[in-house]
Formats: sequence, structure tokens, C-alpha cells
Amino acid sequence: MRIDKLLANMGYGSRKDVKKLLKSGGVKVDGTIVKDGKCQIDTLKQEVTVHGEIVEYREFIYLMMNKPQGVISATEDNMHQTVIDLLAKEDANFEPFPVGRLDKDTEGLLLLTNDGQLAHQLLSPKKHVPKKYYAKIQGVVTEADVIAFQNGVILEDGYETKPGELTILKSDAQSEIELIITEGKFHQVKRMFEAVNKKVTYLKRLEMGKLKLDKDLELGEYRELTEEELTLLR
Ligand code: URA
Repeated sequence: MRIDKLLANMGYGSRKDVKKLLKSGGVKVDGTIVKDGKCQIDTLKQEVTVHGEIVEYREFIYLMMNKPQGVISATEDNMHQTVIDLLAKEDANFEPFPVGRLDKDTEGLLLLTNDGQLAHQLLSPKKHVPKKYYAKIQGVVTEADVIAFQNGVILEDGYETKPGELTILKSDAQSEIELIITEGKFHQVKRMFEAVNKKVTYLKRLEMGKLKLDKDLELGEYRELTEEELTLLR
């Protein structure tokens, strides 16, 4: 990796700041001053210091966010705020991206990382990673819906869903449920309820695989995964 990118990633300022820092002679690689931003560094073998302090380089970042409504799960959007806009600069420097999508009006657990391999594992349809949602539903959710979801429902485009595990928390004109699904089709939860003539009025993701949303995270807040959480995902 180029030394200017490495230093920018590790929070030593913008590319311009890093260029200045390099020019000033404050950066050494294995004890030798390096001024050229293009200099390639092997992060496993070489030691980089800034004003004598060792730069502990790490490549990957893993963040858990409690996504609020009104924000898009994408890295860029011309019209709306994205989840990346909610990150502090030092975290955004790692260029993380959301692992899978939550709708603009869906809240809850969103994993952000720049580890493409882990993201791929979690999103691969072959892995059947379960995702657990909490939802408020307009309409009385019944045992018949539980059975229908267990068997798989036919969405409006003819697609038959894999079995979903539906738990009724409150069966009323405004029902409350939890649903575990192992797929991630576009608007899947909303469309599954449409298939049984009901409407999702509030949706929140609680879990993804063995990773649970930290209840202490307010909407829009995020934190790094712990080592333990990371092991659960792998
Ligand atoms: N299902 C939906 O309908 N929306 C989401 O955001 C996630 C799952």
C-alpha cells in the first residue's frame, strides 16, 4: 500500500496534510525518512513512524450501526444522507460500505466494513445467514400467517420465499411480530406481509447471523465490533 494512503487511513489528515507531513521529514520507514507519498509499504514487514511514534496499521474496520430512518444504506446518494455520512472522518477514511441493505424507512442493525470477503460470506445466498426483524403490522397477524410463512409465501412477482420463522408478539389491529428470514430479497419483509394482505408500518432489524444489535446504541450511533462479535460472524 502507498504510504500516503496508509497515513490518511490511519487518521493523519487529508492527502494534502499527509503530503506536507511527508515533506517535513516526520515520517520514517524502518528508520529511514521517506518523503515520497508513492512509496509502497508492506504493512506486515515494515515499521512506519510519525515523529518517532509507531503507526499501528490495520486494514479492516467493522462497525455496527443502529440505522435511523431517512438514511440510505449506500456509500453515495445524490439526494439523501447515506449511512457513510453518519461516520466520523477517521472511520470513513477506511472506506467501509454497508453489508446488505435496509430500506430508507427501516431502522436497526447495519454492519459496515471494508472487508469484502466477510461481506460476501454474509450476503451469499448459499450461506442462508438468518436475519431477525421486529415489525409493527397493520392488520391482525394470525397463526395462519405463521404457517404460511413457514411454508414460504408467493410474492407479487411469483417468487416463492424460503421458510420464515414468524413469532407473534401482539395480535391486534396493530400487530407486533418478530420474523427470521434467511434471504435478502428487495423489500422482502414488507412483500411477505403484502402476500398475506397486511402492511408493515415499522421495521427494525435486530440480528444478522449471531450478531445482535447493541441496545445501548441510539438511532444513528455506531461502534466497532468487539473481537468476540467478529468471531461470531466468521
Ligand atoms: N425487508 C424489508 O422489507 N425491508 C428492509 O429494509 C429489510 C428487509
